Amino acid sequence: MLNEIDFDAIDITCKPPQEEPERQYYFIAKCRRYVEEEKKRLGRPLTAAVRTFGCQMNARDSEKLVGILSQAGFAETDDEQADFVLYNTCTVRENANLRVYGRLGYLNTLKKKNKNMLIALCGCMMQEPQVVEKIRKSYGFVDILFGTHNIFRLAELLWNRLESGKQAVDIWEDTSLIVEDLPAERKYPFKSGVNIMFGCNNFCSYCIVPYVRGRERSRRPEDIIDEIRKLVASGVVEVMLLGQNVNSYGKNLDKPVTFGQLLRQVEEIPGLERIRFMTSHPKDLSDELIEVMGASKKICGHLHLPVQSGSSRILKAMNRRYTKEQYLELVDRIRAAVPDISLTTDIIVGFPGESEEDFEETLDVVKRVRFDSAFTFIYSKRTGTPAAKMSGQVPEAVVKDRFDRLLSLVQKISGEVCTRHVNQVKPVLVEDADDHMEGYLTGRLDNNILVHFPGDLSLVGKIVPVYLEEAKGFYYMGRMENERREDT
Ligand code: SAH
Ligand code: SF4
Ligand code: F3S
Repeated sequence: MLNEIDFDAIDITCKPPQEEPERQYYFIAKCRRYVEEEKKRLGRPLTAAVRTFGCQMNARDSEKLVGILSQAGFAETDDEQADFVLYNTCTVRENANLRVYGRLGYLNTLKKKNKNMLIALCGCMMQEPQVVEKIRKSYGFVDILFGTHNIFRLAELLWNRLESGKQAVDIWEDTSLIVEDLPAERKYPFKSGVNIMFGCNNFCSYCIVPYVRGRERSRRPEDIIDEIRKLVASGVVEVMLLGQNVNSYGKNLDKPVTFGQLLRQVEEIPGLERIRFMTSHPKDLSDELIEVMGASKKICGHLHLPVQSGSSRILKAMNRRYTKEQYLELVDRIRAAVPDISLTTDIIVGFPGESEEDFEETLDVVKRVRFDSAFTFIYSKRTGTPAAKMSGQVPEAVVKDRFDRLLSLVQKISGEVCTRHVNQVKPVLVEDADDHMEGYLTGRLDNNILVHFPGDLSLVGKIVPVYLEEAKGFYYMGRMENERREDT
């Protein structure tokens, strides 16, 4: 197993093995030797910075990339003046894309100062052929390019680049491969994302994710359970099960398993205290899942259920495969089983053909459901998606106006809804020292809302009861329950 590997003992004089992950262990060992020599030559450590754009899926991938780099001997840093800089990119909306191009010029100036610096790009943007072409043509200073399907090969690509001195490009169109047992460096010691599936088969008409993440593939339940057990053994109390559509988990396994069945198994893991998951597609959310959520002691009282639009007509054009009524009815069923649940959502404004009436349907859903919070997005045209060719693109000024109206409604409701637990005692997972107040800690309720309260840093990673004294709209000020009792 991974934690028993002695990378220095791997024979790197022979040919690389064909099987994975052994092949990658071999290349990690090779890079490690190189990093050692460089350290001696320069008389300082070699540093690596991994910067993540995009969603939790990318954040988890970055932890794996950092894991590989740290096994290869690099010291992790946030500072982009590093010896190795890797951008893990997102392309879900155009501005995610533009941000990366914007930063590349800056990286080039850094590279001119540090001749040894290596720059690598990976992730969703690199799965778009026109992006790769542009980078090869106009950004020759980028050393390594790879996509979403082969992040496990980072050490091999780095080695290829070092050996050849040429730009290393390795993009896979799709894959059926899931490589287990690679190193990962967690951002937080007490909570972790866990991939349960990769890719997406839904093809919502606006969305580029199925094109850049490939077809849906589920990990085997035993591999997931095994990973979570190991995480718990190393101090994790909260996991976030990750997939673009967790509700369709397990359908394509040799022995099919439902998401509800997986959750039941995860619930049994001793020492694990909180379970979250992301993202749920309303069309696949089963009665079984609602039942499991209702009965569970560990699943957090929070569900992210992207609605995207409140208009059944637009939902049809989006290929979401549910109507406004079905969504509202689903919300009712969930609330009946888990009464205090926090619901959050994603909404797109300005989808092609969206009329004022369609938009008002969206406002209506927001008013009826009263989401705890909502991510609101302006529709962004993505090349290659069906919506990009649809007529009726909405003028920018109209979209902007709708976006502002939606945002103020969402914020007003959110401000009201998020204060409902004031004067209650709730369990809080302590995350860190408060940035702004000396002697205070910051933690999260099970519905993800932040709480600030006085306490000692030794509590980080623990779940403690906190009395929520004051609601500040999007966070609470609190006091630890035992201290409150002592006071009164
Ligand atoms: N798999 C998840 C979401 C992935 S992308 C799901 O199905 O809900 C995250 C969010 O980005 C989406 O929910 C959607 O609201 C938004 N999004 C995706 N493509 C977009 C586009 N072309 N323009 C604007 N927002 C988009
Ligand atoms: Fe995109 Fe739809 Fe898949 Fe979510 S479910 S990733 S929005 S295609
Ligand atoms: Fe972005 Fe890729 Fe996630 S496009 S939203 S990083 S799956």
